[in-house]
Amino acid sequence: MEFFAFSKLFGVLCLVILSMVSLVSGIGVNWGTQSTHNLPPEIIVKMLKDSGFQKVKLFDADYDTLKALGNSRIEFMVGIPNDMLTSLASLKVAEKWVSKNISVHLSDNNVNIRYVAVGNEPFLETYNGSYLRTTFPALQNVQTALVKAGHGNQVKVTVPLNADVYESASSLPSSGDFRADIHGFAIQIVKFLSDNGCPFIINIYPFISLYTDSNFPVEYAFFDGKATPIIDGGAIYTNMFDANHDTLVWALKKNGFGNLPIMVGEIGWPTDGDRNANVQLAQRFNQGFMAHISDGKGTPMRPGPIDVYLFSLIDEDAKSIQPGNFERHWGIFAYDGQPKYSLNLGTTNSGSLIPASNVKYLESKWCVLKPSAKLDDPQVAPSVSYACAHADCTSLGYETSCGGLDERGNISYAFNSYYQINNQLDVACKFSGLGTITKSDPSTPSCRFGIMIEPYYGGAGRRNGCTSAALALILLLCTIL
Ligand SMILES: *[C@@H]1O[C@H](CO)[C@@H](O)[C@H](O)[C@H]1NC(C)=O
Ligand SMILES: *[C@@H]1O[C@H](CO)[C@@H](O)[C@H](O)[C@H]1NC(C)=O
Ligand SMILES: *[C@@H]1O[C@H](CO)[C@@H](O)[C@H](O)[C@H]1NC(C)=O
Repeated sequence: MEFFAFSKLFGVLCLVILSMVSLVSGIGVNWGTQSTHNLPPEIIVKMLKDSGFQKVKLFDADYDTLKALGNSRIEFMVGIPNDMLTSLASLKVAEKWVSKNISVHLSDNNVNIRYVAVGNEPFLETYNGSYLRTTFPALQNVQTALVKAGHGNQVKVTVPLNADVYESASSLPSSGDFRADIHGFAIQIVKFLSDNGCPFIINIYPFISLYTDSNFPVEYAFFDGKATPIIDGGAIYTNMFDANHDTLVWALKKNGFGNLPIMVGEIGWPTDGDRNANVQLAQRFNQGFMAHISDGKGTPMRPGPIDVYLFSLIDEDAKSIQPGNFERHWGIFAYDGQPKYSLNLGTTNSGSLIPASNVKYLESKWCVLKPSAKLDDPQVAPSVSYACAHADCTSLGYETSCGGLDERGNISYAFNSYYQINNQLDVACKFSGLGTITKSDPSTPSCRFGIMIEPYYGGAGRRNGCTSAALALILLLCTIL
């Protein structure tokens, strides 16, 4: 009787596990951590698995993060920041990096690391060539170090590049080639990737094209086929992604590398901080893209499945806003792991994003402008400037989610952002006597006055989490048997 119950339970468990295995197809996502408050890695890992992401791209190789990812079966790409490229001209430094940041995780922590991204968009035009001469030696040394450490087959190197590394004189994909000022550097890298069986990684952003060029045809950014087609020989392009991707294919072909594998390292749409950045358009773009690649047809020049990493998993409220206010709003999930819109990745049975579970928030209270405060108080302007400089006001402004607030609402929003980022410290709601703490939520239907999540300090919480999960499992087994 008892044995029968146990074997039945086992059968169900096996079915669940088998159905999870058969769903593997490979949608990836970028996980950046430039936030004032990061969710604990365990919560993120569960979120990734629940929602059906099988691959993750990181921008560094943070030890605690990678350790927490062990045994998760998720495939990882770790990153080396641009400011480390110069020092990696030394093979010794590269060997140390591989030993500390790769070998440990492969051997002790069972992390499935598959790629190392050497630098991040190092040839971006705005870097003025700062990394032109340091990228290739770093790439070579990291590769040599990986091979020496015996990881040559498991871990491949690559350099994620922005689509600005190539251009097309006639604006047709077939006249694509690498930018003249970096041509030699690009080919050097391409040849190395090709010789070592490594992929070319490209980041493509129709949103940025729309943001920087007011004449950009909006429909061409999306995948509904409503844009005026571009005819290029036998190929017809109705969306920028395909045309841009194939400009790269032509550039590679022209230089003798027409078969080099291409992966899309970043693609996505932000939800706030610009008139074209909102939940509706982000949903339209990302869902349209998923549908576009789901049939495995590829692009006119590269039929077949496309390997992608969406940008990005979660909002980062401490990112530089030099490129624009939208920079802090690329997440498919908000800072607290709540999905911002529905997105079917086609990799789970539910077909939907699953919110993070067990998220710990600070108390339900907000900092706002005192009702008695006068708008012409001379302390108002400097207080708002201070709050916005040290917190996050990128949701304020013309045609953004909080753009409809009145002046008092604006000020309260700035105060609250500073208060929450500072963990609701009483002193962070002073503002020369202009601020006051309230328990009634000042949010409006479109504008969320957030409550911050608890700060995460790593280590201890992780162990407790494991213990309580193990206890829960034992309890569950005992109840059933
Ligand atoms: C490992 O990577 C981290 C994060 O990128 C970096 O700070 C650290 O210096 C690396 N360790 C070594 C020994 O290079
Ligand atoms: C690139 O050059 C421009 C103009 O000379 C300058 O404003 C900018 O700060 C430079 N950027 C970097 C990353 O050096
Ligand atoms: C609110 O703040 C934004 C950004 O600082 C500003 O553009 C807007 O004009 C303000 N609105 C009001 C009503 O003060």
